[in-house]
Amino acid sequence: MNRNMLHYENGQLHMEGVALESIAGQLDTPFYCYSRGAIEHQVDSCKLAFGRIGASIHYAVKANANLAVLDLMARSGLGADIVSAGELQRVLAAGIDPRRVIFSGVGKRDEELLAALRAGVGQFNVESLPELVQLAELCRENGLRASVSVRVNPDVRAATHRHITTGTRGSKFGIDEEQLETALRMVMDSEGLDLRGLALHIGSQIVDAEPYRQACLKMRDWVQRYRARGFPVTHLDLGGGFGIDYGAGRGLDYEVVADLAQQLLGDLGVEIAVEPGRSLVGPAGILVSRAIYRKEADPTPFLILDAGMNDLLRPALYQASHELLPVRQPVDDRQEQCHVVGPICESSDLFLRDARVPPIAAGDLVVMLQAGAYGAVMASVYNSRPLVAEVMVDGQRFQTVRETISTEQMMAWESVLEQGEETDLDQL
Ligand code: LLP
Repeated sequence: MNRNMLHYENGQLHMEGVALESIAGQLDTPFYCYSRGAIEHQVDSCKLAFGRIGASIHYAVKANANLAVLDLMARSGLGADIVSAGELQRVLAAGIDPRRVIFSGVGKRDEELLAALRAGVGQFNVESLPELVQLAELCRENGLRASVSVRVNPDVRAATHRHITTGTRGSKFGIDEEQLETALRMVMDSEGLDLRGLALHIGSQIVDAEPYRQACLKMRDWVQRYRARGFPVTHLDLGGGFGIDYGAGRGLDYEVVADLAQQLLGDLGVEIAVEPGRSLVGPAGILVSRAIYRKEADPTPFLILDAGMNDLLRPALYQASHELLPVRQPVDDRQEQCHVVGPICESSDLFLRDARVPPIAAGDLVVMLQAGAYGAVMASVYNSRPLVAEVMVDGQRFQTVRETISTEQMMAWESVLEQGEETDLDQL
């Protein structure tokens, strides 16, 4: 836990200078709560590490796309890594310079490519040969140009959850090494395409430096090989994936990756880019929730929260665990064993199995830590629950940066079938 961001004061958990109980007094639970200071702290340490090696930082918007978060990234001078026209709209609204935007993704539609071309997006990371053909065609038809990096699948195994590993053979991401030369040739031969370089992203929540070392070595090899064959490779995009500490005591320091990149790629005279998402915002966010019931059960009681898997999907989807803290400071070290669950009608709506937590009673507020990344953005309205609100704390004040979207608001977009002429089946 980041001690500056969260601390107990007068028996109450505070984020920066604000008691969480006072926010919960004004807002329905559950809600996400972000610390401006903690985001800026992460951004600063990222800039320090990668600035040293002259690398550019492109925030992976998918981790947390709230405009208040993007605004902080824009003010810090970061670029962005986007994967949809929706994310493009958001980064433009936040005032991020489109030339500092990288467009990633395996399935970009024509409208999305066109919107990005028209906005002047600085780099298209192309992930397949058909996408290259399509992008070239759109450029030709519309008299536009695109700077292209080819995303390669480096076939590097990153020890992370199988759903978030992306750089191994057989994954849908990137172009296989055997197709790389063809792809580079296609870029060179296409009227509207300018070759920028190579890109990769080996997975997410990686806490070990070794896969990055392997990936950099492969990059080095490709740069040397393809430059020798006449391809002007000037940019290398190393993706994101830098792991954070979810409680197991391990994360990956920006410095470690920056040092590796400098050591293994520094002499090539290429511009390096990184696309961190989780590490910039994950540690800066919590999910605040209220316990509804304590249900005694044999052998393990359940603590039933008002937050569910629709609000924070990571535990159900990846068996991820987010540490839990009570908002009222525990008076002693007593702990109880329980399963921490949500109210959704699914067995996988389980946040912590066999957790040891301080005694928590019905009505008590709790927080789940490290929830700033892939939390609110993955929330849904399953079970006809409202879409969870988001709050940002800044020193002594807080602001709701996304209102709750209510079931009433959702229903306003729905309609029942209009009554047509009755068809008499007997007459057919
Ligand atoms: N660049 C590309 C091309 C990516 O696909 C991703 C994440 C990133 C950058 C940022 O990676 P990060 O620094 O955030 O690890 N929902 C999952 C994570 C999915 C990550 C997808 N790609 C989770 O909650 O763990």
